[in-house]
Amino acid sequence: MLQVPRRCLTFPKFRRPRNFHPMKIKSPMQLLNLSAIRAEFPALGSDCIYLDNAGGSQVLRRVADRIHDYLITTSVQLGASYAQSQRASEKVLSARRAVAEMINAAHDDEVVMGPATTALMFILTHALLPGIAAGDEIIVTNTDHEANIGGWMRLKQAGAEIKIWEVNRDSLMLELDDLDRILSTRTRWVAMTHASNVLGSVNPVAEVARRVHAVGGRLCVDGVAYAPHRLVDVQSSGADIYVFSFYKVFGPHYAVLWGHRDLLLSLPSLNHHFIGSEDLPYKLQPGNVNFELSWGCAGIADYLHDVGTALGAAGSRRQCMQTAFDAFARHEDRLAEKLLAYLRGQPGVRIIGHERVDEGNRMPTISFVVAGRHSESIVRHVDKFNIGIRFGDFYARRLIEALGLQTQGGVVRVSMAHYNTAEEIDRLIGCLEEVMEVPS
Ligand SMILES: Cc1ncc(COP(=O)(O)O)c(C=O)c1O
Repeated sequence: MLQVPRRCLTFPKFRRPRNFHPMKIKSPMQLLNLSAIRAEFPALGSDCIYLDNAGGSQVLRRVADRIHDYLITTSVQLGASYAQSQRASEKVLSARRAVAEMINAAHDDEVVMGPATTALMFILTHALLPGIAAGDEIIVTNTDHEANIGGWMRLKQAGAEIKIWEVNRDSLMLELDDLDRILSTRTRWVAMTHASNVLGSVNPVAEVARRVHAVGGRLCVDGVAYAPHRLVDVQSSGADIYVFSFYKVFGPHYAVLWGHRDLLLSLPSLNHHFIGSEDLPYKLQPGNVNFELSWGCAGIADYLHDVGTALGAAGSRRQCMQTAFDAFARHEDRLAEKLLAYLRGQPGVRIIGHERVDEGNRMPTISFVVAGRHSESIVRHVDKFNIGIRFGDFYARRLIEALGLQTQGGVVRVSMAHYNTAEEIDRLIGCLEEVMEVPS
């Protein structure tokens, strides 16, 4: 039976009002209508409290419906002359256009879709391999998820020298001065994350891009931990390549890699010999994209647009999406600060990342350790209350090792999304209060 800690009993359970219009917002203050928002995610009707969103977010009903619709109505091969195939082709192309619009790509053929960020990074670095010469320098960080490190490391086989931009162990930030010390005219690529999936910090990628471009290099940004919380703008990010996964952004296990058209055109084709290097994005999508997941992902853009218009936004679809993300950020900041304030008051707790939500520059991904406690013991206790959090290194293993936290089982990570409620955070805090008293 589900155990409920004493404190939890005092908090009202979330209930969806009857006859609720899913997106109607009453407040002129542009606050999210959480009942309406939550009704968009069928899994949130269960008893589980989902606070492992940086691992994977819940899926929008409309995304699942679109995937179902595609499979039931248009499951044919693309590009044939019969009507069904024409319809399928149109759907998949329109999905690519929707993703291009969502991330502000200048051209939809700059959008490469694939199964995962990790897979797309291996595709990218594989395509870059023939252009790497001995003595070329590549900079990776030791704060990134391994997805944006491993593929770059493999370029050593072509003679590249790999340099590590290391986290400052006091500020827990990647410091620009440290980057400047390792940048050189031989720097070909810098690979970094927009937001850390452990620290929750946001990196100044546009400023990094400026410095990298000044020495003639290029910047590859992993946006996986950023995209669920802020509207991605690939052009203003300054990046040359930008990658993220849809299963963190309310969609299915699927991912997108954007690159400047000129850069993508300069890469060799990884597809069949008769698929030329001018054939964007197909040349980087061997075996083709997943049609139904592509079509499903366009539902994320529709959702963001609808949230924005319900909040009173007008103008372009992206302006509406921006309004939605602004409201997400305000709400997530409040949730994050609630938990951070509790953790700051606990003796023995060390927050691994910024201790406060300041200047909107912290994602609601909060990691911590408790002195003398294995992180697993904290999470196992919370598991009993049907609250999903987790412990470990989250594949940012180099960061956990650099901070000397591996023997403690890594960090405890609580990661929120815009659909989480203050009551859920209160319930988690109730569990944590109990667990702090339990001997390990
Ligand atoms: C920051 C970050 N980058 C990359 C990845 C890898 O994404 P994928 O599972 O799509 O390969 C993750 C997954 O957790 C992540 O958190």
